[in-house]
Formats: sequence, structure tokens, C-alpha cells
Amino acid sequence: MESPFKVDILKGKVALITGGGSGIGFEISTQLGKHGASVAIMGRRSLVLQSAVSNLQSLGIQAAGFEGDVRKLEDARRVVQSTFDQFGRIDILVNAAAGNFLASAEDLSPNGFRTVLDIDSVGTFTMCHEALPYLKKGGLGRGSSGGGVIVNISATLHYTAAWYQVHVSAAKAAVDAIGRNLALEWGTDYDIRVNGIAPGPIGDTPGMSKLAPEEIKDPTKTPVPSYILGEKWDIAMAVLYLASNAGKFVNGATIPVDGGLWLSRPRHVPKEVVKQLSRSVEKKSRNAPVGVPGSKL
Ligand SMILES: NC(=O)c1ccc[n+]([C@@H]2O[C@H](COP(=O)([O-])OP(=O)(O)OC[C@H]3O[C@@H](n4cnc5c(N)ncnc54)[C@H](OP(=O)(O)O)[C@@H]3O)[C@@H](O)[C@H]2O)c1
Repeated sequence: MESPFKVDILKGKVALITGGGSGIGFEISTQLGKHGASVAIMGRRSLVLQSAVSNLQSLGIQAAGFEGDVRKLEDARRVVQSTFDQFGRIDILVNAAAGNFLASAEDLSPNGFRTVLDIDSVGTFTMCHEALPYLKKGGLGRGSSGGGVIVNISATLHYTAAWYQVHVSAAKAAVDAIGRNLALEWGTDYDIRVNGIAPGPIGDTPGMSKLAPEEIKDPTKTPVPSYILGEKWDIAMAVLYLASNAGKFVNGATIPVDGGLWLSRPRHVPKEVVKQLSRSVEKKSRNAPVGVPGSKL
């Protein structure tokens, strides 16, 4: 789908995207690049990175791939430094790297729980921490121009609860908390905006193929009649909004991009029945004498 944003809104900016080699992260890398940014992507699999970088370059985007694990401080530090060495500055950090798998809480080992928190939560904090010297106002490569932007890719499942995802729910809840706290501290001290995007289920992604059974894609088999899958493009456009000046007054927010799905509940009573009910209640209260319970005062 065509972007509604001007193609040069990120001209001259440099973005580092963890998990930028696949799925949602790759679409974010592509869209940031198509709107003028130079793009560095980070992940553990070198073949995935290589193919992503050549795809980005074939679109005319300046791109580089750096192998690294966000759980390792030395990797985080090296990748941030390499991004700076290659492009001369860092303006945007997108934390999209995450681990996920389905496991009931009973069957999930504490080690499995810890692994997901290490990638999603500790990894996000580590990348933010290592990028701070480059993102802060007056930081390396920035002079006295304003600070940079961080966008964390979260989720909506911890707003309520999610079956078999206690680890991911806990990890993303921490990601949201990290975002708000950094927004407060680094927004105040360093003019850095820190926000999040919380995708709903997004089609054609590794996450969906791992976590969602085929039935979820069939609207006739879900309890939510309006259920549709989002597109990777939807998430990338939301990141563009936050990363560009369009989002200059947004700080400490996590925006759900899920078509309102997290608000959805099964409709227990059909709308027509509710209309009839409320009409008859209104009629009764209109006819009741004043002072009688249920009458109008
Ligand atoms: N798909 C959805 O419907 C959905 C819904 C809500 C939220 N999200 C969020 O959106 C983001 C992208 O999800 P996706 O479905 O597109 O899945 P994905 O492609 O599997 O995204 C994970 C990416 O993170 C990288 N990664 C994983 N562990 C890493 C580590 N330790 N260090 C560095 N990189 C690491 C992976 O590359 P390597 O394996 O090569 O390291 C991969 O590129 C995630 O944050 C996910 O939680 C997705």
C-alpha cells in the first residue's frame, strides 16, 4: 500500500532496528528507508541479515546488517558503535527483537520464562542504554541539535491476559514500563522521545505462524465477529509517525495498533435485544409517578 507520508520525512536520519531482518522489523526497516533514513539492522542470523540488506539496497536504501544478540552487552555496544561508524550518527532506535513460543505456565520452565524476558525486556533496556550517548541532545554526532527517538515494539496481550503466553506478557509489560520511565528521565534530561507500538495479530509474520493456530485466521471460528489481521505496513506506518516530526509531542505513549481488538469481548446479547430492553425500561420509568423508585425526578 502507498504511504501517506512524504518520502523525505526522515531524510538524513539514521535508524537502528533490532530484529530488522525479518517480519515486522523488516517492514519497519523498509519504510524508514523509503522515507529517507539510512538503516542498520541487527539480528543473530547472518544469512537473514544479508538477504534483508540486499533487499533494502535494491530499493535504493542505504543499509547495513550487524550480527548480534541483544542479550549480550558487548554485542549491543559493538552494533551501536558500528552503526555510528558506518553512518556518522544515530537518530532512531527501534527495538523489535523478541522471542516467542506458546507454552502453558505449568509446562514453561523458569529458564524459558527468563529467556524471553532477557531478549524482550533486558535486551530493550540494554539497546536503549548503549544508544543513549548517540541519541541524547548534544551527544555523539548530534551537536546541540535535539535528541533522537526510541520506538519499542510491544504487544497488547498483557493488557488483559493471554493463554500460554505468561512469559511474553510479562516481558512486554516490562517493555512498556521501560518506555514510560525512559521517556520521563531521558525526555527531561536529553530531549529523547521514547514511545511504543503495540501490534495486534499481524498477518504474514513469523510471530503469527508460531503463535496462532490456523483457525484464528478464519473469522467464522473466532468469538470476535469483526476480527481481521493487521498488516506489517500498519505497524511500520505507526513507527514512521512516531519517528518523524509528526510525533514531536508524543512521549511515553504506547499506541495499540490492532484495529481495537484488545477491547473486544464476545457479544453476549444481540444489539436488537438491547434496544428493545432499553426502550421498555425507558417507557416504564416515564410512566412511573415521581418519587417512586425507577421514575424520573
Ligand atoms: N507478529 C505479530 O502478530 C506480533 C504481534 C504483537 C507483537 N509483535 C512483536 O513484533 C515484533 C516482530 O515480530 P515478528 O512476528 O515479525 O517476528 P520475528 O520476525 O520472528 O521477529 C523477531 C526478530 O528478532 C530477532 N531476534 C530474536 N532474538 C534476538 C536476539 N536475542 N538478539 C537479536 N535479535 C533477535 C530475530 O532475528 P534472529 O532470530 O536472526 O536473531 C527476528 O528478526 C516482536 O517484538 C513481536 O513481539 C508481533
